[in-house]
Amino acid sequence: MRIAMIGTGYVGLVSGACFADFGHQVTCVDKDQGKIDALLAGRMPIWEPGLETLVSSNCARGRLKFTTDLEEGVRDAEAVFLAVGTPARRGDGHADLSFVFAAVRELAKALTRAVVVVTKSTVPVGTGDRIAEILAEEGAPEGCSVASNPEFLREGAAIRDFKIPDRIIVGAEDDKARETLKEIYRPLFLNQAPILITSRRTAELTKYAANAFLAMKISFINEMADLCEAVGADVQELARGIGLDNRIGPKFLHPGPGYGGSCFPKDTLALLQTAAEAGVEQRIVATVVEVNDTRKQSMASRVAAALGGSLEGKRVGVLGLTFKPNTDDMRDSPAIPLVAGLVSGGASVIAFDPVGVDGAKPLLPAIDYAGNAESVAEGADALVIVTEWDEFRALDLRALARSMRGRTLVDLRNIYDRAEAERAGLDYFGVGRGRR
Ligand SMILES: NC(=O)c1ccc[n+]([C@@H]2O[C@H](COP(=O)([O-])OP(=O)(O)OC[C@H]3O[C@@H](n4cnc5c(N)ncnc54)[C@H](O)[C@@H]3O)[C@@H](O)[C@H]2O)c1
Repeated sequence: MRIAMIGTGYVGLVSGACFADFGHQVTCVDKDQGKIDALLAGRMPIWEPGLETLVSSNCARGRLKFTTDLEEGVRDAEAVFLAVGTPARRGDGHADLSFVFAAVRELAKALTRAVVVVTKSTVPVGTGDRIAEILAEEGAPEGCSVASNPEFLREGAAIRDFKIPDRIIVGAEDDKARETLKEIYRPLFLNQAPILITSRRTAELTKYAANAFLAMKISFINEMADLCEAVGADVQELARGIGLDNRIGPKFLHPGPGYGGSCFPKDTLALLQTAAEAGVEQRIVATVVEVNDTRKQSMASRVAAALGGSLEGKRVGVLGLTFKPNTDDMRDSPAIPLVAGLVSGGASVIAFDPVGVDGAKPLLPAIDYAGNAESVAEGADALVIVTEWDEFRALDLRALARSMRGRTLVDLRNIYDRAEAERAGLDYFGVGRGRR
């Protein structure tokens, strides 16, 4: 199958490279000349494990190409995927569809033959209908189909998620779209990945429902963590105790500083907008958003409390800045309000992240950056673990404690336990690990 991918970000690049790896002929298009130049020179514009090898091997086999020229990119395509961004619109939280609609307008003019247009971007219910209208308005060739194929990959494990998905959702209104997508994903369902064919609207909404549900699980365990702290219980044991129940499952039951990233924050807000427009209350999701926002804002006070109540004049070392490990993505990272709160409380902050520093600097300019965890600890009153990178899981706590000025370890990911931190001479503050 000949495929064009419009938008070569996290989703477009990973999807394009994986489709090429299945044997399809893929051209990835992006407006960002710098991104395409980097890819043509063999450099990855994002940090994602395994991506460089996947991209270079498929380029070498001639199955994966990159261009900024949309006409060239879609010239022979049978299916055109849209993977442009849909960030939250400033002010109202509605998904900003301007990139999607602009891409569709350009696409309509560039097409010389009927194609299946597939929306991989996360878009509100009804967007596929509007895309079909725009294609017609802008004079796209007769016979184009519009399908929805939401993407569920996780940054940091994106290639594995794409190649071994829990499920593939295809929302389509006609046989041509259904058959084209089945053909594209055939290598995966030969491997038994379930493919669920739904209406276009159902597929669009399924993506939001999935993300809202996962966000709810995180907020639930975060509130349980607060309760554990208050009553002297341990949320790690509690999470295991409920997670072993098959009806609940162990995933997304890790307490922490609140969810961030490029999806959950904006997708929960967009779902609320969709519901408001439909006149339907979504009180659970509304509460999840509120609980998470409050939590992210409260993390600096948690550090202050661990330091005896005040941040004034304190040196705080921050380990990890990205919203989760194995990505350089800083979008809506809990580190942003945490660090801002530390600085406004009078602390000086020094931070290290294995790959996120370049992305963090423009967002957090008023702090110092170090090249490793050891330098972060030097002279610090408190160390705060924000992102559970593997390289933070086996730190030499004794050595860190010796070089610190204070002895406070705030572990927002519960990667250590109290006993080992105390053996190293540190005062340990985990999440939801109350004691009596
Ligand atoms: N990042 C994730 O983990 C993830 C997972 C599932 C779904 N999604 C969804 O996928 C979509 C893309 O997300 P992302 O994180 O890959 O975004 P991104 O910002 O990393 O990439 C989007 C790319 O689209 C390009 N672009 C914008 N308009 C264009 C146009 N008219 N023509 C060509 N290129 C254009 C941009 O230059 C950018 O490179 C979003 O809707 C997101 O919600 C993301």
